[in-house]
Amino acid sequence: MIYSRITGTGGYLPQKVLTNHDLERMFETSDEWITSRTGIRERHIVADGESTVDLAEASSRLAMEAAGVGPKEIDLIIVATTTPDQIFPSTATQLQYRLGVHEAPAFDVQAVCTGFIYALSVADKFIKSGSHRCALVVGAESMSRVVDWNDRGTAILFGDGSGAAVVQADSREGILSTHIHADGQYRDLLYVPPGEKTLLMQGNEVFRMAVNTLGRIVDETLEANRLQKEEIDWLVPHQANIRIINATARKLKMAPERVVVTVDIHGNTSAASVPLALDVAVRDGRIIAGDLLLLEAFGGGFTWGSVLLRF
Ligand code: ACO
Repeated sequence: MIYSRITGTGGYLPQKVLTNHDLERMFETSDEWITSRTGIRERHIVADGESTVDLAEASSRLAMEAAGVGPKEIDLIIVATTTPDQIFPSTATQLQYRLGVHEAPAFDVQAVCTGFIYALSVADKFIKSGSHRCALVVGAESMSRVVDWNDRGTAILFGDGSGAAVVQADSREGILSTHIHADGQYRDLLYVPPGEKTLLMQGNEVFRMAVNTLGRIVDETLEANRLQKEEIDWLVPHQANIRIINATARKLKMAPERVVVTVDIHGNTSAASVPLALDVAVRDGRIIAGDLLLLEAFGGGFTWGSVLLRF
């Protein structure tokens, strides 16, 4: 049996930090309103001239270093992004060039906030099929470029960053199951209108759907693996809103200290949020080899999904 295992993670955030107090100077809002509704205190924002590929490259190099693999070993690159710097070529091929990887297939996946979960599912299937052995899977976003900075309903939520994972073929247990879904009937609840540059969202509808849907994906994942809630060591959720995260944690009856939370300091970095949170908890020593992890996300489309893995 071939498993695909995460053998290294990396995360990168742009230097510039935008706090809730900075936002108070941009439109009518308050730190108290934002913190109590979302759990977000600050987020990182790309500088002029800083690109999504720059973010992807930085997190990828750290993940490759952690895994101890060089460009010659990478035989597949998948980048999840909603905010590519240009329509084409893909972010993945630009990243491939930057890293000095040659000929390995490289492509982008667009599933908004669920992008990394989708990309990891795809990499898992490539590796389990035996066709590829060492994938670089990246979530990279410059969400600040698609946010209307005059709209207090959405501008408070998003941030920029990138997270990456090296995923390798192994006889030891790694990814145990992946579950991905979409339902396009909800496409107009969170979207960028054709020809426009910034996103629109019906926040309270998205909130309600996210809580319900993430509850269902947790059940689906547990049932598929005949697992009890208590067996999961860590919940690594998409970081959209602390109230959405807490609802999923309650459903799993997980103690707060078993839930990786970065939304307070990262905001919602869309496809980058899950790999960024994973990297934070790996590097600070919370997540260790052998732990059972549940990764989950929900995003525009709607799309949603989960990955259960032995780290
Ligand atoms: N500061 C102060 N007041 C605000 C702000 C703000 N930043 N934004 C909105 N308000 C006001 C509104 O104008 C409204 O005022 P009114 O009653 O006078 O009309 C009031 O606050 C309530 O607005 P709602 O939109 O109903 O506020 P809600 O409690 O739903 O919170 C929020 C809004 C935080 C966006 C919430 O709906 C949410 O988090 N939704 C989930 C959205 C999300 O996470 N999307 C990310 C992408 S999808 C994903 O990743 C899961």
